[in-house]
Amino acid sequence: MNVLIIYKSYSKMNTEKVAKAMAETMNATLKKVEEAKPEDPTGYDLIGIGSGIYAGKYHKDLYKLLEKIPRLEKDVFVFSTAGKPDEKYEKPMKELLVSKGCKIIGEFRCPGAAGLLGFTWSNKGHPDEQDLEQARKFAKGLIKG
Ligand SMILES: Cc1cc2nc3c(=O)[nH]c(=O)nc-3n(C[C@H](O)[C@H](O)[C@H](O)COP(=O)(O)O)c2cc1C
Repeated sequence: MNVLIIYKSYSKMNTEKVAKAMAETMNATLKKVEEAKPEDPTGYDLIGIGSGIYAGKYHKDLYKLLEKIPRLEKDVFVFSTAGKPDEKYEKPMKELLVSKGCKIIGEFRCPGAAGLLGFTWSNKGHPDEQDLEQARKFAKGLIKG
């Protein structure tokens, strides 16, 4: 199975750690949203979209990219890291993807150390090895299923 993961991570690089753990497990192509082009998903069987949660949302760069894609009839999974992981943060992204024709086949979230510029105000040390192991398990489940 051909997997592409597109992600945005900037404050503590937490989502990047999760994205890398998933990509290694699935042998996926990994792209930062800044490197991704709207035509990239063509040719992949499964697409992963991942982000840190910023002011209640997936990063706007992911929305900007996806809005340039008129139709995307693909299996997709979404994942996020957040100060307080909650399924409500996944909802608008899932709705956008479904509106493009995607089928959501999984979602993953875990805590991420929250902070900026070397200062951490919560979840210090996350994602930790246990969080990353959960991410690998999730990824394995997707390719088996
Ligand atoms: C500007 C900013 C806004 C944030 N807003 C939220 C939020 O609304 N809800 C939440 O649970 N976490 C929030 N967080 C915490 C981040 O979601 C968390 O640290 C995440 O792991 C960051 O991912 P990254 O290191 O990949 O950028 C915020 C962090 C920053 C820097």
